[in-house]
Amino acid sequence: MNETNAPQPTGIAALGLAVPPLAMDVTELAALRGVDPDKYTVGLGCRTMALCPDGFGVVDLAETAARRALESWSGRVEDIGLIAVGTESALDMSRPLSAFVADRLGVRGAVRSYEVKHACYGGTLALRQAVEWRASGAARGRAALVIAADVALYAPEDPGEATQGAGAVAMIVHTPDVASVALDAHAYSEPAFDFWRPVGESFPRVDGKFSLECYQRAAASCFGSWAGERDAREAFEALRAACFHAPFPKMVKKAVDRIGESFEWSAEDTARLYAEKVVPALEWNTAIGNSYTGSLWFAVARALAGAEVGDRLVAFSYGSGFGAELFELTAGPAAARAEWAAPLEAELSARERIDRDRYVALRAG
Ligand code: HMG
Repeated sequence: MNETNAPQPTGIAALGLAVPPLAMDVTELAALRGVDPDKYTVGLGCRTMALCPDGFGVVDLAETAARRALESWSGRVEDIGLIAVGTESALDMSRPLSAFVADRLGVRGAVRSYEVKHACYGGTLALRQAVEWRASGAARGRAALVIAADVALYAPEDPGEATQGAGAVAMIVHTPDVASVALDAHAYSEPAFDFWRPVGESFPRVDGKFSLECYQRAAASCFGSWAGERDAREAFEALRAACFHAPFPKMVKKAVDRIGESFEWSAEDTARLYAEKVVPALEWNTAIGNSYTGSLWFAVARALAGAEVGDRLVAFSYGSGFGAELFELTAGPAAARAEWAAPLEAELSARERIDRDRYVALRAG
């Protein structure tokens, strides 16, 4: 590794993704709960929930994603100087999730290791800190391992139940082989109780309708700041993709509608930009459900797969509480190979599909 403390070209050098081995279609959940399946599939835009079997959890997801990222990277574990895990599925009030993962990976020594919490925004914050750590020169040429990992479960019969999911995205932050990450970013936050989980409680409390409003307000503010004095429609049009945190696909559609209204786009333009720039990146999200911190990064990984050098995309991160941030990524030479895509797609197709009886038993466990 280059031990200089001069700022280094920085970005995502490698990606690794992981999902758990079980899945259930939301139509099966609708039958269990006596709900019209169209409410979940059309009303929320959901398709499948990724679920963990007993004894399988957030550390397993984070470890698998990290191993995949490390395997497709040219560096060594010894070259990592920072490991940060963004999660809201912490196992301990003190010991960071990064310690559980570092233990399994053999990451130790002169390494800064910590957990980041800000609901679904935590993984993005970990990435931003890693990028800024490299850009400042403090990394002295070393790499960061950033992981966004969560198991998203609501209380049985909660209105959020159809949006459940689980997954992990690991990113090696070093040279920008997969994508460079812009230092310039557009943050927006307001203290709010839209979705929260008090200490000691197993499931989140949600003010559902309020959470939709908070998300849309944050999206309109961040995109307004990003567009600045430019023609926002032309700027959006020039992107390969606009990637969003996706608690459920219809949330993203509502946010794009709000963004379109704020820029006074015609309904036709908004619908077209949503279909062309946003929907393709949601492919893996609809197969996984909400993976909280991982959600945005599954969309970014999908959008980067097959991109040409110089293709630009934006990433919009949202975390309840609430905080949001929007910034650009530019594809590098390794995006076209997309080494992260095949293992994820194999894992998605190999998942065991469970029915409502197995789901009830799983939740009881
Ligand atoms: P609900 O209130 O039971 O649902 O739960 P609803 O009655 O609002 O219906 C949902 C949609 O389905 C509506 O569409 C209905 O019209 C439609 P809309 O009017 O909104 O376009 N619908 C139907 N469509 C077709 N056929 C039917 C039918 N019936 C109804 N028969 C809610 C919805 C989102 C509140 C619930 O799922 C929830 O609480 N989810 C969790 C919270 C959430 O995801 N919020 C999103 C923003 S906050 C966020 O993103 C952060 C988060 O990821 C956490 C973090 O940061 O850590 C959640």
